[in-house]
Amino acid sequence: MHINALQQTYKNKTTIMMIFESLVLCFLSLLLLSPFAISEQCNPQDKKALLQIKKEFNTSITLQNLWDPKTDCCIWVWIQCHPTTNRVIGLVMKFDEPSNDIVGHIPSSVAQLPYLEHLEFNNLSKLSGTINPVISNLKHLKYLVISFTSISGTIPSFLSRFQNLEVLDLSFNKLSGIIPSSLSQLPNIRLLNLGNNKLTGQIPNSFGSFKKPGPEIYLSNNHLTGLIPASLGQIDSETINLSENKLEGDASMLFGNKKRIMRLDLSRNLLSFDLSKVDLPKSLTFLHLDHNYIYGKIPQVLNKVNALERFNVSYNLLCGEIPQGGDLQRFGVFAFYHNKCLCGSPLPKCKS
Ligand SMILES: *[C@@H]1O[C@H](CO)[C@@H](O)[C@H](O)[C@H]1NC(C)=O
Ligand SMILES: *[C@@H]1O[C@H](CO)[C@@H](O)[C@H](O)[C@H]1NC(C)=O
Ligand SMILES: *[C@@H]1O[C@H](CO)[C@@H](O)[C@H](O)[C@H]1NC(C)=O
Ligand SMILES: *[C@@H]1O[C@H](CO)[C@@H](O)[C@H](O)[C@H]1NC(C)=O
Repeated sequence: MHINALQQTYKNKTTIMMIFESLVLCFLSLLLLSPFAISEQCNPQDKKALLQIKKEFNTSITLQNLWDPKTDCCIWVWIQCHPTTNRVIGLVMKFDEPSNDIVGHIPSSVAQLPYLEHLEFNNLSKLSGTINPVISNLKHLKYLVISFTSISGTIPSFLSRFQNLEVLDLSFNKLSGIIPSSLSQLPNIRLLNLGNNKLTGQIPNSFGSFKKPGPEIYLSNNHLTGLIPASLGQIDSETINLSENKLEGDASMLFGNKKRIMRLDLSRNLLSFDLSKVDLPKSLTFLHLDHNYIYGKIPQVLNKVNALERFNVSYNLLCGEIPQGGDLQRFGVFAFYHNKCLCGSPLPKCKS
């Protein structure tokens, strides 16, 4: 009995010792590994690429004080990491207003961030050169935004190969040349903004074949010429902005009472078609047709477009009485003035 009890105590002691020892070991290894295993989530290759980008933008005062190599890149400004894999999925460099801080070209090291879903350069006035072809390696891109920069050159057709791309915003740059027709092959595009550049040529015929219903399309303030392709009548986008170009001829294919279009801006072009013949969608909230050569009468149905918030048909060749008894009068004289022979409130009475 006595010996047995003694053995038991001895046994217990070794177990306790063993537990204690392993705890100490555990604690020691935690201490040793902690800077890597616990606080640092950033993938070392991603960090290397980001530090290379910092080097390429070495005149940036902002960056010199950020992106400290001793800290975890997943907490750096402008960086987003994936919640489970910790790979860098977002490089979103933007300022609230145009900034001269970042000088140079789109760094080739962005291609060393293979899991990027969101790449954005916004309000970087001194970012110049062309759209770097290495971007084509970023197969996971969902959002590509290069806006308010000095990026020039043409829109590369490789952009049409991004299977996951939802937003392509290249507005307010210095891009020139034609719009690649292959962009209509982007299977998941929701927003295509190429506005405020120096793009030339026609709107591609293929733009009628965007996957239904079709993305919001902004091509405003470019140098686009020629006819709007008839095929564009096949898409069912909520927004189409073609304002401030040199587009001619018919635009009636963009209307139709079965469409869900809400915002249609065709102002400041050379368009010429009969407005009496178009079937206005009741979903419209924004209709700007000013500064064209549009003729005919204002359709009666416009009185029934209840949600209309913005409306302008000034500086056209419209005639006849403005539909009365509805809501159109609230837009005031300046929404109707400078036409051929429009009359009735809010303009002067029609001569009978
Ligand atoms: C910035 O980088 C360029 C080349 O990458 C180099 O020539 C220049 O000396 C660097 N400037 C500073 C301040 O480090
Ligand atoms: C870029 O600057 C413009 C003009 O100041 C501002 O309206 C816009 O919101 C800025 N863009 C971003 C992404 O902050
Ligand atoms: C269309 O683009 C022009 C800039 O060229 C802008 O002034 C206008 O507000 C835009 N319209 C819509 C509906 O977005
Ligand atoms: C319509 O456009 C004209 C010409 O650009 C402008 O003067 C007027 O203020 C605009 N009116 C409305 C209501 O938008």
